[in-house]
Amino acid sequence: MRVKDKVVVVTGGAKGIGQGLCERFHKEGARKVIVADIDEAGAKAVAAAIGGEAHRCDVTKEADIVHLVTDVENRIGPIDLFCSNAGVATGMNPLTENAAGDSNDLWNFGWQVHVMAHVYAARILVPRMKARGGGYFLQTISAAGLLSQVGSAVYATTKHAAVGFAENLAFTHRADNIRVSMLCPQGVDTPLLRALPMGPQSSDGILSAEAVADAVIEGLDQETFVILPHKEVVRYMQSKINNYDRWIGGMAKLDKASRERARK
Ligand SMILES: NC(=O)c1ccc[n+]([C@@H]2O[C@H](COP(=O)([O-])OP(=O)(O)OC[C@H]3O[C@@H](n4cnc5c(N)ncnc54)[C@H](O)[C@@H]3O)[C@@H](O)[C@H]2O)c1
Repeated sequence: MRVKDKVVVVTGGAKGIGQGLCERFHKEGARKVIVADIDEAGAKAVAAAIGGEAHRCDVTKEADIVHLVTDVENRIGPIDLFCSNAGVATGMNPLTENAAGDSNDLWNFGWQVHVMAHVYAARILVPRMKARGGGYFLQTISAAGLLSQVGSAVYATTKHAAVGFAENLAFTHRADNIRVSMLCPQGVDTPLLRALPMGPQSSDGILSAEAVADAVIEGLDQETFVILPHKEVVRYMQSKINNYDRWIGGMAKLDKASRERARK
């Protein structure tokens, strides 16, 4: 898909990766970029800079997503590309004493923001896209959804679930000409990463949101299912599949190193 002349919605567009995507989609000549975020002031600032439109939306609330989609489609036109990008660094604690220890509220929140938000968007848009002959979903997930995340079982588990939903959405609706890409970066220099108590988890380099947007444009162009701005992730996935036990051992070493850094 080429973004030129398309109507594009980006959730979590007020900051970080989402902001980078909004700015890049505008540069690519999108007809309208809708910056949807729970942070209305932030969304307005990004939208003003790119001639886009701000929309206050809490993606954990289905009614907000239904309103976002129906309002945009009634006033502007069919959404060609819906980017479910909003996400939160849920429960990151390098010194965690129990992988299951986070509260049910936090588990439910992670589930809502990283999984159900994607379900809500697809629930309203799939029938509309089918009726008009196709559409595109870009799901910002994380390399943590393919590999894992040291220090947060909530983040790792809900991002894995988001991968599960993206796969299912992609193959169930391929024949409807609905395309899906999942964006799975490692560290990206954003407010989310800067606030992490344990710092970046890999030594593979922190990318800018602009570099991630470059990878997204290339991935959309080729309509590839997995967009990996950090190329090393392919090798890590291969080693996970080739020898799961050795991979768990490697993750245990990363976990130990992360604890030692946090104790200093
Ligand atoms: N930064 C990284 O290193 C990194 C790596 C892999 C994946 N990710 C994923 O990328 C996505 C964006 O992350 P980021 O680093 O740009 O984060 P960020 O915190 O910089 O920006 C996230 C944006 O989402 C918005 N948001 C949060 N909750 C929302 C909600 N309920 N409804 C609507 N908007 C909401 C925030 O207001 C913010 O503008 C997330 O899904 C994150 O899990 C980030």
